[in-house]
Amino acid sequence: MGPVPIKPATILAPMAGITDTVFRRLIRNQGHCGLIMTEFTSSHGVIGSDGGRRKKSFNYLSFEPEEHPISSQLFGSDPQVMADAARICQDLGFDAVDINFGCPVKKVTKCNGGSGCLRDLGLVRSILETVKSALTIPLTMKFRAGWNDRELVHVKMAQMAEDIGVAAIALHPRTREQGYSGLSDWSRIAEIKAAVKIPVIGNGDILTPEDAVRMVRQTGCDAVMIGRAASSNPWIFRQINEYLETGSYWEPAEVDRHEIMSTYYRMLDEEEMPDTIGKMKQFASYFTHGVRNGAKLRVDIYHAKSSQQIRDLVDHFFTRELVAA
Ligand SMILES: Cc1cc2nc3c(=O)[nH]c(=O)nc-3n(C[C@H](O)[C@H](O)[C@H](O)COP(=O)(O)O)c2cc1C
Repeated sequence: MGPVPIKPATILAPMAGITDTVFRRLIRNQGHCGLIMTEFTSSHGVIGSDGGRRKKSFNYLSFEPEEHPISSQLFGSDPQVMADAARICQDLGFDAVDINFGCPVKKVTKCNGGSGCLRDLGLVRSILETVKSALTIPLTMKFRAGWNDRELVHVKMAQMAEDIGVAAIALHPRTREQGYSGLSDWSRIAEIKAAVKIPVIGNGDILTPEDAVRMVRQTGCDAVMIGRAASSNPWIFRQINEYLETGSYWEPAEVDRHEIMSTYYRMLDEEEMPDTIGKMKQFASYFTHGVRNGAKLRVDIYHAKSSQQIRDLVDHFFTRELVAA
């Protein structure tokens, strides 16, 4: 990605409500993830032009030295505000700035942010040019294929980005109207790969190491980006590495799930993150996927009142209940 090497060529997708500093470090500590990214962050929030939200935006942008290389993701539709916010990200020490042209959420698109921009390529150009000229670190963009199937713009977007000097582009090939339904059409990734020379990052529906390899084979993409699968399988990057080296990969046992939950919950407690208990409840459902009697643990955690109680429930479940079952 410009002068920033992404090695291995695997990226944790930005996910609002998930990829905060604690989760990113959990992933980094498992090894073999080449780049991590912040949750999308309002450019207006970063520059302080929307009242009291500046502190919240800065929470999204806080990171620890061990997170390098790390990219900050911004959304918005005012080119100068985006450029000022990007400059602040550069000054905070981020290795790259990414612009979100994919978010389908109404609150964002109604102000033309996220995938709202996909219907106004003049605005996309203006944002990319203005932000690019404000930065010395690499600028990247993450985008959807278009507003809907009748208005596909992924090839035009990719060519425009290359023309402006964007360092790498990541495509989630669903359309805005598609939301998360159906499947990602990976042939759209192949189409942009054929249209530009800058690195292309493929994203969408990678659930296993086999999927990651298949995406690279089918599309020729230079790197893969993984979102939802990483939230229930934080080992996926390590598994991809093993699969490439040996043709098979390690699968987590219950003891590994216990360890990852305990580690994540301890980190949340130690960091005094906002809404620690809410995060613990949210992740209980991700981390207990496929665990015997996991539904019982989820219900118990749902009713818990303190973080210590949740941590005790997890320990009790894995060391007593599961062993006895
Ligand atoms: C809960 C959630 C939050 C997300 N937040 C963001 C975000 O902040 N920025 C962004 O560019 N994409 C966001 N996405 C989209 C993902 O980065 C990714 O493009 C999408 O989930 C497809 O990849 P996957 O199939 O590997 O999950 C989010 C997705 C989910 C499920």
